[in-house]
Order: sequence, then structure tokens, then C-alpha cells
Amino acid sequence: MTNLAPIDDAITIPDLISDPYPIYKRLRAEAPVIRVKSVGRTMLTKATDTRMAKDNPAIFSSDDPNTPMERAFQAHTLMRKDAEAHARERGAMAPSYTAKNIKGSWEPIYRKIAEKYVAGLPRGETVDLFTTLAGPFAAECLTHLLGITNASVADMERWSQVLIDGAGNFGWADAPFVASDLANAEMNACFDAMIDLHKAEQGPSALAVMVNAEDPIEMSQIRSNIKIAIGGGINEPRDALLTIVAGLLINPDQFDACKMEGLWGDAFDEGVRWVAPIQVSSRLVKEDVEIRGCLVPKGDTVMTIQASACHDEDLYENPDAFDIFRKKQPHQAFGNGPHFCQGMHIAKRMLAQLMLPMLFDRFPNMELAGPVEFTGFGFRGPAAVKVKLA
Ligand code: HEM
Repeated sequence: MTNLAPIDDAITIPDLISDPYPIYKRLRAEAPVIRVKSVGRTMLTKATDTRMAKDNPAIFSSDDPNTPMERAFQAHTLMRKDAEAHARERGAMAPSYTAKNIKGSWEPIYRKIAEKYVAGLPRGETVDLFTTLAGPFAAECLTHLLGITNASVADMERWSQVLIDGAGNFGWADAPFVASDLANAEMNACFDAMIDLHKAEQGPSALAVMVNAEDPIEMSQIRSNIKIAIGGGINEPRDALLTIVAGLLINPDQFDACKMEGLWGDAFDEGVRWVAPIQVSSRLVKEDVEIRGCLVPKGDTVMTIQASACHDEDLYENPDAFDIFRKKQPHQAFGNGPHFCQGMHIAKRMLAQLMLPMLFDRFPNMELAGPVEFTGFGFRGPAAVKVKLA
């Protein structure tokens, strides 16, 4: 008879928010499958296990009825669906993310937005790149990709945070849902105001391709999947950019190599491996399954810790170091399986090909103006990156 996974009642959520990496390191070595009381989930911390779970949606389902996400988004989004239902909704947005559209439609627009924000940075002064660059750049780019250019940067950043707070409201407190209900009403009005224009123009944005499809998905799903992209399309590129900038400025030899040899793609891959912007995902267990000798029973929820997978000693030497020269191999920062990040190519284009070379071409001698503190358990990135612009 196989035993259930061991239980931990010492790990706290504040510890995970402050620095989860030493905790995951210990769990990988001592208890890679473990029920963590404070989180109410069975954590999987080894790379082969997180990959296995995400690659097997028949056993590890995304359709988790206990998630507060449905309440926060006022609908089940594509992230919480499996099989055909998921493929249908993911396919509805897909034409917007093709390589042809990334190059032909989004790159020229994103380039102009990047130029505007980089040009607005005051040379010689000390600024926080979170508020002056990374947040607004990510938000403004997304208004174009999604086809909601009537939304302001401030609205986008606020909606994104409200959705994230609601989706993470595992205590089911009232206040985050009151805020998300209000934001949902604003977002629905914003989307509806664009529909006639999109029907007339037939452009490549996500909203346009969904409303103009021959066999469109339901309006409730069009809305909720635009919302999932608002909730998930701002903070990840923002946090990835800040993490990469921090990694480079902390490591002057790597920064110099990037500037001399244009290794921005390597810096991008290493930055998201080093501190994965989305650190964890949840899957509902549909049948009893054994992982590393532990019974994980039907009805349990596993948390695949891709942040830990990206630091697994089986794959990476000295995993806690930011090292753009490390041996190349696939990482799990964009997930894997059917829910693999739909925005990966666009995120890489906007950071590795546009923002990073442009930013450091203008400020090649940029320096950190203080230590960088990372924060977050589900999502993680620097709370601020203060730099001297030189
Ligand atoms: C560096 C930036 C980014 C990172 C690290 C990232 C990471 C991820 C990860 C880990 C997942 C899978 C979650 C799971 O398995 O439960 C995901 C899904 C997704 N991402 Fe990203 N993402 C990034 C940027 C973007 C951008 C810019 C967009 C554009 C809107 C986007 C759109 C999506 C969508 C729509 C999904 C859901 C796909 C599905 O369920 O089929 N992402 N992302």
C-alpha cells in the first residue's frame, strides 16, 4: 500500500513570498512530493514531475472547480479548461499570435512604444524602471495586441492587478471580489465599445479575430479570454524585463558581453529561468496516481512549481546564479503541455529584440542605485529596480 505524501505545516505563505528558492531547494532534496498545509496543495518541485503533470491533462486537469479564478473573471477562462473546450478557445485567439502577425503587425507598433518610453527616461537621473518603463511598456503593448486601444495604461495596470488579486483570493474574502466585479464591468464596457470598429476593420488583434471568426466562441468566453490576457500579459513581461535588467547589472561581465555581442536572447532565456515570472500552476488530480512512491489521490490539487523545476540541480549547475553563458537547455518558465504560454514568442520579441537592445544602446553605463528585492509566491519579480541612467 503506497503512503500519502508527507505533510508540512512549517512553510508559511509569507516565507514563500519573501524567498521561496531555499525552501524549494530543501524540498527537492528531502521531500519532492509534499502536502503543504498553508497552501492547501501538494507541491511538486522536481522538473520531471512538473513536466509530467502538465503533459498529462487527462490525469492532471486544469478544470479545477475550487479555484477563485472563475469568480474573479465571472467565467471559466481557457486556462481552466481541458481538451476540446480548451483547444477551441485557445484556437480562437491564435491567429493574432502568428509569426506573420508578430513580425508584420505587432513589432512595428511595439517598437514605437518602446522608443517612446526609452526616450522619456531622463539621462543622468535615478529612476525606478518598474514604474517608468517596464509596467507601462507592457500595458501599452497589450492594448494593441488585444484590440482595446481605448483602455488607458493606468486602467490596464489596475485591471490586471485586480484580476490577479481575485484569482489568488483563496481565502474567499469579499473585498477582492467586489473590486473584480467593478473592474469586470469596466472591462466589458471597454471591449463592447471596440466591437463595431473591429467588425469594420477586420484587423489582427485578439478581440478582432475572435469577433470576426466564422464560427465565433461565446461572447462570455471572448471577454474572459481577453481578461486572462490582461491578467497574464502585463506582469510577466514587466517582471521578466526587470529581472533581466537586474541580472545584467549585478553581473557586469555578462552585461558587457551582451552589449558587445548582442546576447539579448540568452539574457531573456536566463532571466525567466532564474526568476520565473509565473512560479506555480495548479492542476486537479482526476485519478489516484503514484509520484515518487507517494499516493496522490483523486480530488487532490497539485501545485507544479515551475520556479523550482527551473532550479533543479538535475538540470542546472549552480542554479541560483544568473548566468547567460550556462549550457542551453529547455526550461519550464513558459509551462509545457497544452497550456504552454500563448504569448511566449511575442514576449521574447518585445524584450530580447526591441526593449533590451534599445534601452542599453541609449544607457550603456546604467548602474543599479540600490539592492534589488524580489517578491511574490505565485508571480515573482523585483518590487523595484532603481537605476542611475548613464
Ligand atoms: C515573459 C513573459 C511571460 C511568461 C514567463 C509567461 C508564462 C506563462 C506560463 C507559465 C503559462 C502557463 C500556465 C499554466 O500552465 O497553468 C502561460 C500561459 C499563458 N500565457 Fe504567458 N507568459 C508570458 C507572457 C505572456 C504574454 C505577453 C501573453 C500575451 C497576452 C501571454 C499569454 C498567455 C496565455 C493566453 C496563456 C494561457 C494559455 C492556455 O491556457 O492555453 N503570456 N504563460
